[in-house]
Amino acid sequence: MPMTGFETWTEEQRRIASDAEAWVRAKLEHESSGHDWRHIERVVSTARTIAKAEGADSFVCELAALLHDMADEKLNDDPFAAEQELVRWLAECGISEQEADHVMEIIAMLSFKGGSRPPMLTIEGQVVQDADRLDAIGAVGISRVFAYSGAKGRPIHDPSVLPRSSMTEEEYRNGRDTAINHFYEKLLKLKDLMNTASGRELAEGRHRFMETYLEQFYAEWDGRR
Ligand code: ADP
Ligand code: NI
Repeated sequence: MPMTGFETWTEEQRRIASDAEAWVRAKLEHESSGHDWRHIERVVSTARTIAKAEGADSFVCELAALLHDMADEKLNDDPFAAEQELVRWLAECGISEQEADHVMEIIAMLSFKGGSRPPMLTIEGQVVQDADRLDAIGAVGISRVFAYSGAKGRPIHDPSVLPRSSMTEEEYRNGRDTAINHFYEKLLKLKDLMNTASGRELAEGRHRFMETYLEQFYAEWDGRR
């Protein structure tokens, strides 16, 4: 029987989650790539909401959400070493080998880059993936796009630059792009990629908000409103 909420965790689980939190916070506090500590905090909150609604193991979801960016290639000069460190941390933190493998599997699948992304195998993986994707849409998602674009020195909008329908990883990271185009290249597609019913429900509200935002944006751009 999976546990349904963090109220039901044992003392030991609380200690482990709080150790993980301290470790992640120390590493990502000064990160400005969009994978900062506040992103993690939001993914954790959303994962808690979805895990509860879906009856997923909230402890596994919590650890995976907390640690999901720790070995990310964008945050580590040596992602392989970072992954080794993560594996070691999980082996020594006090959880079972099975739980450690499960958390690691979720993190590996989340950061899987490549053509056909394999589907998440467990409900806990689906929950955390939904939570991570939800942070890229809605009001927060919009804020992140402009923060990211600004940091890359890209324009807000340029009607002469059309959204790209397909691109390589290199083009995705470094191509000529605008903040508004990123909505079409990624954000508006995320709603249909949700794994869980609760994730989809949250995504729908956030998706509508982005559509309203874009409508208003174009109206203002053309001086119509
Ligand atoms: P992830 O690894 O979680 O898919 P990314 O590094 O692609 O995340 O993106 C982190 C944040 O920056 C997201 O909110 C995303 O929408 C935004 N972002 C990523 N690429 C671009 C881009 N080309 N233009 C604007 N925003 C972007
Ligand atoms: Ni993330």
